[in-house]
Amino acid sequence: MASQVAAHEEYGGIVPEIASRNHLIYAPRLLDRAANAAKIDPSEIDAFAATSGPGLASSLMIGASIAKGLAIGLGKPYLAINHLEGHLLSPFFGIEKAGANHIKPNVSLIVSGGHTMLLLVRGLADYQLIGRTVDDAAGEAFDKVAKMLGLRYPGGPEIEKHACDGDPKRFDLPRSMLGSENFSFSGLKTAVRYLLPKLHVIPSEVEESRGVTTDEFQRRPSTTLRFGWDNKLLSDLCASFQQAIVDVLVAKTVVAAQKYGMDLVTVSGGVSCNQELRRQLGEACSRKGIEFKGAQPWLCTDNAAMIAFAALLRLHAGFQSQVTGEIDPNLALVL
Ligand code: KG4
Ligand code: ZN
Repeated sequence: MASQVAAHEEYGGIVPEIASRNHLIYAPRLLDRAANAAKIDPSEIDAFAATSGPGLASSLMIGASIAKGLAIGLGKPYLAINHLEGHLLSPFFGIEKAGANHIKPNVSLIVSGGHTMLLLVRGLADYQLIGRTVDDAAGEAFDKVAKMLGLRYPGGPEIEKHACDGDPKRFDLPRSMLGSENFSFSGLKTAVRYLLPKLHVIPSEVEESRGVTTDEFQRRPSTTLRFGWDNKLLSDLCASFQQAIVDVLVAKTVVAAQKYGMDLVTVSGGVSCNQELRRQLGEACSRKGIEFKGAQPWLCTDNAAMIAFAALLRLHAGFQSQVTGEIDPNLALVL
């Protein structure tokens, strides 16, 4: 119903001040618009929910204050929802229409800009952490590498677009911590960083020590590789980088499903929009006789519908939150 992507794009990432101002301006209008579109009066709504963390404090506070105010004013239940639970449950969106509230046990891969986690899901609100990233999240690696390559924010869709015609085998990039249930993507990012000067795409350390900046480097006619005349190089780099991430995510998820005896794998979060990840994870699961369920693409990147859906399942299961509960920018999904 509303997106702030355009407002943050020119800064190459989310600017907290802009994000919270926009929440304050647009949230009340959005509420009106949603109620009109659904042809209901707010008094007919069963419960009010908001994300209570993890995330930016200034944005969380606005959503939670509005939802709490409505819940108190209209005498309805309030539900504080963990952002990560919103992602984790999103592959099941719509099950309530089929009369089911049941979350089938599964191994869940959450891959977003802020998180990369593998969880054992036994049911609603029953989650066990299997592994998480020890440094960058997968989406963060996409965004940082895209920035190095001069691509726009958010970097994931940009890299995916260029990777389509690329050769994923051209560059041998690292697949870190394959023997562990945790993830690490900062080595991959650094490997791309060191590869670029060798390909004459950015200045080498020697040139940098002589004060050559990337901007100056780009302007030099003799070294203007800058992908302008070499789209193939850009495509191959993007495809090789994307494949390195996909290989790690697929391998660890399938191993975890087998280890914990789960016959369902789910994937959610912004990076799960990635078609190659979905295709290769789906194929790897099917080779092992494991069912695969990805969040629908419109539910992968951050959205309010997944929070409302988590709240609906929790409400039906008898959960409610205190309106005196605080937001928590570092809220954990599993203690
Ligand atoms: O879940 P999300 O919207 O926000 C967080 O909770 O972090 O995820 C945003 C992340 C960004 O890093 C973005 O680059 C990545 O998801 N992303 C993708 C794709 N679409 C979004 N990464 C890879 N391929 C995509 N198609
Ligand atoms: Zn998210």
